[in-house]
Amino acid sequence: MIQYSTLHFIFPHCIYILKIGFYCVIYKHPLIHLYIIIMELYVDTANIEQIRHCAALGFVSGVTTNPSLLAQEDPTIDVKQLLLDIHKTIGGHISIEVISTKKEGIIKEASEILEWCPEATIKIPMIAEGLAACSELAKREIPTNVTLVFSPSQAIAAANAGATYVSVFLGRLDDIGVSSREVLEQICEIWDVQQYDSLIIAASIRHPMHIIDSAAAGAHIATIPYKVLLQSLEHPLTTSGLDRFLADNAKRLAAKK
Ligand code: G3P
Repeated sequence: MIQYSTLHFIFPHCIYILKIGFYCVIYKHPLIHLYIIIMELYVDTANIEQIRHCAALGFVSGVTTNPSLLAQEDPTIDVKQLLLDIHKTIGGHISIEVISTKKEGIIKEASEILEWCPEATIKIPMIAEGLAACSELAKREIPTNVTLVFSPSQAIAAANAGATYVSVFLGRLDDIGVSSREVLEQICEIWDVQQYDSLIIAASIRHPMHIIDSAAAGAHIATIPYKVLLQSLEHPLTTSGLDRFLADNAKRLAAKK
């Protein structure tokens, strides 16, 4: 998961560059202990067209899926094939969720998933049986993503169960009148104090403000629905500014003739 770059070997006592996934980079100087962490962007979808576009964008480093997202796709489609196509198209991280709610069932399902998709991260619900399965999978060094996390105490339990990723749901907290920003900030603060290894995924993102909140709080990853991802790239002043640049360029070319 964490790889030391070759610079580590060239300048072993000056700079360490650790890479987590694709874009999360930590620079550490042994004297000043400065860390710079870049939040990765994943797309939260099971739609192959959306995945193709995200892959072409070049800055989306993974995909998260769940049974609800899969249920939005063509019901006649072969789900395994779809997930393999998704992974082949975008590369990087892919989270695939189990359906079982019992420890043994989850472990069995995880082994089955890994047989046909060895790079999968196994997404497990935040329930006691799920954490028991997560602990067992962690012992086997199988990457896990504990999902449906809504509180700091759940996040702490998931981290202690050895979850590779902990998915904190923002939008669904706001839906019930709980500030997702405050919950995420508290979880990130606990991570700083406790130095947990699990990576925090901000999920259930509904609008660009959730992406900003996630980055400001210190989430390692934000998994974003396709529509919101595209929305986050837009600004009316960018649109009007570009229109003006193009119009002025056309005017200049016309004046030249
Ligand atoms: O990653 C979790 C996400 O798919 C749930 O989003 O909008 O259904 O709360 P939402």
